[in-house]
Amino acid sequence: MGEPQQMRTSFLPAWLYSSPEIAEREHRNYASRLWHPLTSSAALADGHAMATTLLALPVLLTREGGVARAFINRCPHRGVPFADPADGTRPCRRLVCPYHGWTYDLSGNLRAAAREADFLEPFNRSDWPLEQLPCNELAGLIWVAGGSDPLALENQLDLLLDKAAVLLQRPRVLLRSESVALRCNWKVAHDNTLDDYHVAIAHPTTLHREQGPVRHYRHALSNHGTLLATPWPGGGEFLTFGLAPWTHLLLWPDGRMAVIQFPPLAVDQCRMDLWLLGDAAMEPTADTWLAETRTFLEEDRQLVEGCQRGYGSGLKPGPPHRLEQRILQQQALYARLMELTPAELSCSELSC
Ligand code: FES
Ligand SMILES: [Fe+2]
Repeated sequence: MGEPQQMRTSFLPAWLYSSPEIAEREHRNYASRLWHPLTSSAALADGHAMATTLLALPVLLTREGGVARAFINRCPHRGVPFADPADGTRPCRRLVCPYHGWTYDLSGNLRAAAREADFLEPFNRSDWPLEQLPCNELAGLIWVAGGSDPLALENQLDLLLDKAAVLLQRPRVLLRSESVALRCNWKVAHDNTLDDYHVAIAHPTTLHREQGPVRHYRHALSNHGTLLATPWPGGGEFLTFGLAPWTHLLLWPDGRMAVIQFPPLAVDQCRMDLWLLGDAAMEPTADTWLAETRTFLEEDRQLVEGCQRGYGSGLKPGPPHRLEQRILQQQALYARLMELTPAELSCSELSC
């Protein structure tokens, strides 16, 4: 796994949080080179399909013969989607386009097209497979990359696999999920969830109680991930992993797992996606768990939306604290993947 590469000693400049031009570059250099968990493995049974999205890209997930695959949810004939995210996960043997009936198997091969003998040019089914996306299963989640040449998933998850291999093997189902829009750049929300300096102050009766005294915080950093470990009253540790691109994975010794992501919606808006996973027997306590999680995330909302207004009005960020080292690590990774130049990193103007 190796030691983390060069740590930053200052926060990223504010213009990266408010420049409309940066979003396209983030998509190309950052998000497309990384993997994104799109659902839990347990949510996609064999012989099922589901539609979802990866940023603006419509995605179709299928499982056949135990193998999960991801395709662009776009018929190669005229672009119509095969299913809608609102349909949920459904059993299906074939994917049938509702426009002209082109019919695919769950591996993405075209099996039939209506009136096949009458195309204007010679027609070969094998020329028209569904467009496949890189897809992988790890830690009980289905990970998809939007670009064709992503970082190896094992590298992206290096710290998680190193520190939590046994905990990750536990079977989990998706108990609850919800999505909330936040009026801030995704990096404000990601930074905040990596921020161990604010917890005692901003979450005194919620997250701070869960994580305990700051003197017991234990940190670990790798090239791609960050970890805060805190003692758990029942034994073991509560593990909070901060992962690229905007993903947080929380693991409790009792087997619960929470996934929090902040995909961008606009330069000053992102979405918070929250998934709560655990043993199916935890179902009766899932509403309480969701309510508690919502409470501290709502405390964060006020702060991140205020932070965005500060960044948007030309802030020159102040000095990082030792308890903000997880932010600096993810920002160093961001700067590296974005190929930001020293001049860009030192620029404090919105027009950079
Ligand atoms: S758009 Fe799908 S069959 Fe025509
Ligand atoms: Fe917080």
